[in-house]
Amino acid sequence: MWKNLILGAVLVAFVAVPLANSLTCNKCNSPSGCKSPSSETCSNSTANANKQFLEGYHSNVPAVSGSLNFSCANLTYYHPANYSHTFEFLGCVFNETNVCNLALTNTQSGWSKKCLQCGTDYCNPAGTYSSSVYTIVGSAVVLVLAKVLS
Ligand SMILES: *[C@@H]1O[C@H](CO)[C@@H](O)[C@H](O)[C@H]1NC(C)=O
Ligand SMILES: *[C@@H]1O[C@H](CO)[C@@H](O)[C@H](O)[C@H]1NC(C)=O
Ligand SMILES: *[C@@H]1O[C@H](CO)[C@@H](O)[C@H](O)[C@H]1NC(C)=O
Ligand SMILES: *[C@@H]1O[C@H](CO)[C@@H](O)[C@H](O)[C@H]1NC(C)=O
Ligand SMILES: *[C@@H]1O[C@H](CO)[C@@H](O)[C@H](O)[C@H]1NC(C)=O
Repeated sequence: MWKNLILGAVLVAFVAVPLANSLTCNKCNSPSGCKSPSSETCSNSTANANKQFLEGYHSNVPAVSGSLNFSCANLTYYHPANYSHTFEFLGCVFNETNVCNLALTNTQSGWSKKCLQCGTDYCNPAGTYSSSVYTIVGSAVVLVLAKVLS
């Protein structure tokens, strides 16, 4: 009985918390750095740091410094003539930042834009295995528990 309860609690801690709690995004902020992005977990502080970075290039970044709703983004600018990237940013943003609607300050002219904003772990491209890793680990835990309890 107690054994079941404790194992149940462990199961919830391992499987449910990482799935439910926080969004994790690929992170980089230059075309060369984005060849091997790192990662970051969404929070008011990571999204706020990225907001400040984006303010260096854009004129209409909303003045939001905290949110309960985050997204991962890949915002890339390139020369349309040869597709060479001039600016590449991947990271966590406030939903309210509306990253794909930001307007460049007019010092950068002639850049074309590709932008993606999405809401699941590592959905801004590059490694896309995170949620399936959790699924695999979760299934393994369930299998082990089923064995232990039977
Ligand atoms: C983040 O900011 C939002 C909006 O200001 C606030 O409601 C929330 O509590 C903050 N989260 C943390 C962990 O401080
Ligand atoms: C956050 O906002 C997006 C876009 O409006 C929406 O699709 C998503 O469901 C929201 N998530 C939460 C947790 O409110
Ligand atoms: C791509 O085109 C832009 C604008 O025509 C030019 O300034 C840049 O040097 C080119 N980049 C490469 C890698 O050819
Ligand atoms: C996410 O942002 C969109 C566009 O700004 C807004 O309409 C929506 O209400 C936001 N969702 C949340 C949960 O804040
Ligand atoms: C970000 O998006 C651009 C344009 O779609 C793409 O070329 C680039 O590979 C993406 N960056 C990463 C690190 O996946």
